Amino acid sequence: MSEGFGFETLAIHAGQPPDDTTGAVIPALHLATTYAQAAVGDSKGFEYSRTGNPTRAALQATLAVLEGGEAGFCFSSGMAAEDALLRRLLPGDHLLIPLDAYGGTWRLIARVYAPYGISHTPVDLTDLDAVEAAWTSATRLVWVETPSNPLLRIVDIEAVSRLAHEHGGWCVVDNTFATPYLQQPLSLGADAVVHSATKYLGGHSDVVGGAVVTSDAALAEHLGFIQNSAGAVPSPFDCFLVQRGLKTLAVRMDAQCRNARAVAEFLRDHPAVAEVSYPGLESHPGHDLAKRQMPDYGAMVSCRLRGGEAAALSAAARTELFTLAESLGAVESLIEHPARMTHLSVAGSALAVDPGLLRLSVGLESIGDLLADLSRAFG
Ligand SMILES: Cc1ncc(COP(=O)(O)O)c(C=O)c1O
Repeated sequence: MSEGFGFETLAIHAGQPPDDTTGAVIPALHLATTYAQAAVGDSKGFEYSRTGNPTRAALQATLAVLEGGEAGFCFSSGMAAEDALLRRLLPGDHLLIPLDAYGGTWRLIARVYAPYGISHTPVDLTDLDAVEAAWTSATRLVWVETPSNPLLRIVDIEAVSRLAHEHGGWCVVDNTFATPYLQQPLSLGADAVVHSATKYLGGHSDVVGGAVVTSDAALAEHLGFIQNSAGAVPSPFDCFLVQRGLKTLAVRMDAQCRNARAVAEFLRDHPAVAEVSYPGLESHPGHDLAKRQMPDYGAMVSCRLRGGEAAALSAAARTELFTLAESLGAVESLIEHPARMTHLSVAGSALAVDPGLLRLSVGLESIGDLLADLSRAFG
């Protein structure tokens, strides 16, 4: 079911019809590792749970519909999902990565793949001329994050995908920050969408997971093969939790975007803050593009403090409702210091983060309480 229904309807119903035998209105939690076969080669579609599991299949079907793709694949973490995609590259291949990206993505590409002869170039993906100039005859892929982590840069998915295709390459978009509710990269020309389902999709800080969605048949075959061969599959219970999270994704995102805007405006007007990165602010360099590409601007806000690292560390230590913790995208608000936490792995690289930067994941608490917390902490 994808024709004609709204996002909220699809999040609740797509890929999860009532159970045929019991009428249960949610997909069952199938813990079985193996499935009886009537005769050799005669199964009901499932043989072994690494290869295929009904709870995972339901989640994969829902995610594929929500992202407007043909096929979804779930993994045990966002990094495992990224790894499955990157295994498409061969020694000698080259890829373009953003100047601003999740530190773990950089670490996987620069520290795990590079020794196998897969090279990369960090590029400012907001500058199409720079992307064009960095593309070499060995470049197969451009890896996009938009909004990016942690600076909330906005990349033109349609233009970058077109450029990749003109060169015979492909474009992957990490849609973790936007979610399919706010951005559907496949409809803008991307070849694959990757998620840390740990974040907004799960939404409750209780599950680590990842997913890839694509409409490219060859890529789908590759992903299914890697999922089964390398085996970084999520447990059925983790799939159940993500599927449950998806049902409220739209209402959570609406409310979190509202809170994030208020937080961004508060920080913009605060004397201790030198600069706020939030694509919903007109001063953000990617504001007009974000307005075209997304119906709302997400719930992540970053800010640079005038007092540099010392001021950032001290503010992060003083918040109470904004819990000092890594991760993002769940119902509770979090604050973190990217240079020493989520992006420590990029220290000294082209992706290194300003130590005066704080990143806030704005949750669902009462906005008055959140602003009072920041007011106390920022002085
Ligand atoms: C944008 C982005 N992509 C991917 C990941 C990796 O996901 P996971 O932690 O689920 O492996 C993260 C984690 O923070 C992230 O922020």
